[in-house]
Amino acid sequence: PRIDLRVLDQVDSTNAELAREFQAGSDSIPVVIADCQTEGRGRRGRTWQSPRGENLYLSMGLTFHGGFSVLDGLSLVLGVAVANALESLGADDIGLKWPNDIFLPSGKLGGILVELQGELQEGVVQVICGIGINVHMSAAGNVDQAWDSLSRAFPRHEWSRNLIAGAIISAVLDAAHEFSERGFVDFREPWQRRDIFMGKKISARGGEAAGTGAGIDQGGNYLLDTGDGIVPVRAGEISLREV
Ligand code: BTN
Repeated sequence: PRIDLRVLDQVDSTNAELAREFQAGSDSIPVVIADCQTEGRGRRGRTWQSPRGENLYLSMGLTFHGGFSVLDGLSLVLGVAVANALESLGADDIGLKWPNDIFLPSGKLGGILVELQGELQEGVVQVICGIGINVHMSAAGNVDQAWDSLSRAFPRHEWSRNLIAGAIISAVLDAAHEFSERGFVDFREPWQRRDIFMGKKISARGGEAAGTGAGIDQGGNYLLDTGDGIVPVRAGEISLREV
C-alpha cells in the first residue's frame, strides 16, 4: 500500500493530528510522526510523556472490514507487530502486558493507544493506532510505574528512531493484512509467548477476579486461573496487575 507519511516538529498528539486529517475513502495509509508532543495521550485518560527528540511518537490510520468488534483483537495484534519489529532490530526479551503494553523485564518500554475514528459505511471502521516507544528517554517526571528505554536497556546498539519507525510501520502493515485476511487465530501464540503475566498471581483492577495468569483465548480475552476454573477477562476497560 501507499504510505502518506508526515513528520512534524511538534504536535499536540499524533493521534489527534491523524484524526483531524484522516480522509474517508483514501487508498493510502496516513502516518504521522512527531519529534515531540505537547499533549501526548496514554490509555485511560493518562498523559504520555513526550520529550523532544528522545522517543518515537507515531500514529497510523488503518481501515478494517468487520465492524467494531475488530478493535479487541486489533490491540493485541498491534502489540505483537511492535514486538516483532523491535526484536528484528535486536531488542531481546520483549514482553507484552495485556492488552498491549510493551515491556522489558526492567519496566514499560512503550504503549499503544487504539482510538476509533468512525464507521465509514456499514461494517467498515477506521481506527487510529498510536504507538509510543521509549528510545532515548533519560528521565521521566510523574510516571507511576517502572519504565525503561531501548538505549538504556541495550546500550551497545545504536538506536535510530528512523529505523525503528520503518520497522514498526512495516510490521504493523503486515500484521494488519494478516489480521484482515485470517482474523486473530495466528496471533494467539506469538502474543502468549510474550505474556508477562503467565503463571503470575494477578488481579483484575476493581477486584472482580483474581488468580494466576493463564494466557489468552481465541478472541484475545485474558484468562485467569482462579483455582476453581479458567475465567476470561473481557477485553476493554479492565486492567490487570501483579499482586
Ligand atoms: C499507553 O497508555 O500505554 C498508551 C500510550 C500511547 C502513546 C502514543 S505516542 C503516539 C500516539 N499519540 C498519542 O498521543 N499517544 C500515542
